[in-house]
Amino acid sequence: MTTLLSGYRLGSLALPNRVVMAPMTRVRATADGLATASMATYYAQRATAGLIVTEGVQPSLVGQSNPGTPGLHTDEQAASWWPVTEAVHANGGRLFAQLMHGGRVSHPATTGLQPVGPSAVPAVGEVFTPTGPQPAPVPRALETHEIPEHAASYALAARRAVDAGFDGVELHGANGYLISQFLSSNANLRTDGYGGSVAGRIRFAVEAAAATVDAVGAARTGIRLSPGGTFWGVRETEVPELYTALLAELARLELAYVHIEATTDEPVLTALRRAWPGALIVNPVMPMGPKQADRATADHWLGLGADLISFGRAFLANPDLVERLRTGAPIAPVDEATFYTGGDNGYLTYPTYQHAA
Ligand SMILES: Cc1cc2nc3c(=O)[nH]c(=O)nc-3n(C[C@H](O)[C@H](O)[C@H](O)COP(=O)(O)O)c2cc1C
Repeated sequence: MTTLLSGYRLGSLALPNRVVMAPMTRVRATADGLATASMATYYAQRATAGLIVTEGVQPSLVGQSNPGTPGLHTDEQAASWWPVTEAVHANGGRLFAQLMHGGRVSHPATTGLQPVGPSAVPAVGEVFTPTGPQPAPVPRALETHEIPEHAASYALAARRAVDAGFDGVELHGANGYLISQFLSSNANLRTDGYGGSVAGRIRFAVEAAAATVDAVGAARTGIRLSPGGTFWGVRETEVPELYTALLAELARLELAYVHIEATTDEPVLTALRRAWPGALIVNPVMPMGPKQADRATADHWLGLGADLISFGRAFLANPDLVERLRTGAPIAPVDEATFYTGGDNGYLTYPTYQHAA
């Protein structure tokens, strides 16, 4: 029987359990996108995860969404990750970098550049900037000839990630960021080969994944998807057809895993499970919803055919989450107020469980 605490072979990695730390932006990098000593400590504290997926990391300056997020587009940024990957490995863990190009969810006040997207349609909502939240700006629609360069940015960042000691990368294809904008039918109004039909809307995702596989190998490449999700105002039509077509292309590329969020009805997601022959990570709740991933939702999804389960907030607040799940110790609540404040408070200060003497 598949249990959360049993081992799993993911490509060449032997995971000691099926608990994945979900990617979480924590805005604790330096202003120029360098990883810090605190970040090394934070991830090393959580190295008992079967796999850690880091916070979103920008593969280019124009792809940076929030101030204070780390990058992998300069040599200095790549070098800054070494202490992080070494600390996690020293504690017996494994980690993938999440490559996140924000596309239209960005701001000139953060990057000095006009954000880009599939079409000149702004995101719904306010984006973070160094001076506080501001309305999402109108992005510049990418010219057809520019699109391969953005697909290639994931591959270049992946190469830097692996050279900096990461075990692999996860393309952020979810939550309304660039890949998800291309998948959508209201952020992507293109009439060239990158929009319109299902085949057009999946093309950017497939090209970014193919370029990354070329750069670092399929065993080191995963992708995160949020089928039917509506983050930042994206809307997707033909959700089952869109994701079935995408998974068929990704299966041809033999990606290490697909990481899906429970952003649409369970029967749609279980059909995607059947359509995807490889390793499947499920984040079993609606992101930013009222309910957190927990043991019950994890077991439910393992029963539905997930191979691995990702936990976000529970892992943020419980560095020893795996041990707590193993022993049934209580899961500490998360402090939302310190999600994005910077500094070590609410970052390095969550204790491990103290058993009563
Ligand atoms: C503080 C915070 C930051 C997040 N940042 C990211 C991110 O960078 N990339 C991503 O794919 N998801 C991000 N998420 C979503 C989580 O990965 C996860 O899907 C969500 O928290 C739901 O799972 P949970 O109930 O286990 O927390 C973030 C969530 C939180 C709470």
